[in-house]
Amino acid sequence: MGKPVRRNRFFAAFAILIAGLGWLTSVATQASPQQPGPSAAAVAAAVTGAPAEQVFKDIRVLKGIPADEFLDTMGMFASALLFDCVSCHAKEIITDENAFAIETPKIQRARQMVVMTNAINRLYFGAQNRVTCFTCHGGGNLPRSEPNLDVQYGEPIEDPYRMAFVQSVATPPATEIFAKYLKAIGGAEAAARLTSFVGVGTYTGFDSNDVPVPAEVFVRAPNQMTTIAQAQAGTNAKVFDGKQGWRMQQDTPIPLFAMTGDNLTGAAAEAMVWFPASLQKSFSQWQTNVAEINGTNVLAVQGSNPGGQPIRLYFDEESGMLVRMVHWRRTAVGAIPTRVDFEDFRPVAGVQMPFLWTRTWTNNQVVMQMKEIRPNAPVEASRFARPQATTR
Ligand code: HEC
Ligand code: HEC
Repeated sequence: MGKPVRRNRFFAAFAILIAGLGWLTSVATQASPQQPGPSAAAVAAAVTGAPAEQVFKDIRVLKGIPADEFLDTMGMFASALLFDCVSCHAKEIITDENAFAIETPKIQRARQMVVMTNAINRLYFGAQNRVTCFTCHGGGNLPRSEPNLDVQYGEPIEDPYRMAFVQSVATPPATEIFAKYLKAIGGAEAAARLTSFVGVGTYTGFDSNDVPVPAEVFVRAPNQMTTIAQAQAGTNAKVFDGKQGWRMQQDTPIPLFAMTGDNLTGAAAEAMVWFPASLQKSFSQWQTNVAEINGTNVLAVQGSNPGGQPIRLYFDEESGMLVRMVHWRRTAVGAIPTRVDFEDFRPVAGVQMPFLWTRTWTNNQVVMQMKEIRPNAPVEASRFARPQATTR
């Protein structure tokens, strides 16, 4: 299976931003009296999931949502318009995070667009987020208004990543797909013996300047998972303790913030997929369909629990292996996807485990390559504790 394509414009700007912050770090440590970056109060608010207007400086239309959801709306903006942060924000953000609050013509326009989109949804779609930035923009800044004859007369495009999911009668039931999967990885018994692991390897993302840096992964059944990377901009961590979760990203406007809403159920799902023996039981309802990923036939299986967001699993039709998972985070301006692709399967204590996975979402694409996976290694509870915000 091939690697997903990277959208360079978006990531390039982040890389510039990181380079700039790296410079900032060195300046800041030279005892400069005016510390750049967020205030202590803002950092404290972000850790508790307080509303964005208590965390950021000038929030006018995206009020009442936690910082993580706010940053996800920025991901929606960037993804829907194929913009990077500096396409809307002032160039000064490269060296000063306070500059995210500077108003620019594009920010004014985007604020109007938020108000417009909300009005459309409120008036015509019962306040559901049926129309989003992506509905009109579809990956471009100036939405096209005239029909595209190539789309009308060309090959129909099957998009296996759509959130809308239709049960297909031709697909085997989920129970059968899971049974084949368990057999493919080494059998249900071997899978059931796996209850934790520690992985050691590398992390590659925009915040590591696309260079592999040391990383560790701690996973404990049924649903705890911590990923820590030593990126150039500082320690980067994603921690989920089974209920609560935090993201530590030294290179972002807010270095440490609580995960909320669907980011928590998504984090739980990303931990659960490591325990194939109990995966099917983790969701009460399953639907199946067929799809194609890079020319390979896959079986799509969607699991959901009442009131929760679904997760989508894609199994290679031939080998039976789990090759991709997708989950969605609802934001104030619509849902955004997170995708994890699994590759490089190797046996660990009789279970085939992926040693390489690629996590792709609207704000970054991260490749985790394991050198070693220690099955059932003891994992202390402290690995899932809230990380400490370090000052730059
Ligand atoms: C389409 C334009 C657009 C893009 C692209 C965009 N933003 Fe924003 N950003 C906005 C708007 C509009 C606001 C103000 C929201 C409001 O007033 O409620 C904002 C506000 C912010 C703030 C709060 C600033 C403060 O202190 O008040 C941060 C932080 C931020 N954006 C980060 C980002 C990051 C990081 C990216 C790149 C992933 C990004 N933005 C991309 C439009 C954009
Ligand atoms: C109902 C359709 C629609 C929706 C929904 C929509 N837009 Fe737009 N947007 C447009 C159109 C049409 C234009 C271009 C207007 C023009 O040609 O000048 C535009 C232009 C823009 C521009 C200026 C682009 C440029 O390069 O000048 C920004 C920024 C923008 N939209 C942001 C957003 C954001 C953010 C959202 C989601 C909150 C959003 N839009 C939702 C239709 C939409």
